[in-house]
Amino acid sequence: MVTVEVCIGSACYVRGSNHVVDDLKAMIKEENWEERVALKGSFCMKACQNHIGLGIKVNGRQLEGITLQNAKEMIREEVKKDLV
Ligand code: FES
Repeated sequence: MVTVEVCIGSACYVRGSNHVVDDLKAMIKEENWEERVALKGSFCMKACQNHIGLGIKVNGRQLEGITLQNAKEMIREEVKKDLV
C-alpha cells in the first residue's frame, strides 16, 4: 500500500490543498488504485515554512515544488515508483 499524505494546514489549504485531495481521489479511480493507494490528511508538515510548495508526502517522502497545477502528475509519478 502506498500512502499519500496531503497537508490540510491553513497555509496549504489557502493554496488549494483541498483541490489536490479532489484531484487525487479522481486519479486513484482513474488508475484503479483503490486497493493500492491510501490518501490521508495531515497537519502542517513544515513545507510552508521551508518554502518547498504544498505539503505532500508519498510513503513518508516529502515532495518538493508541488503546486495546485502540477500536483496530480507529480504525485502520480511518485506513487508509480512505489507500485512497481
Ligand atoms: S500548512 Fe501545509 S506544510 Fe505547513
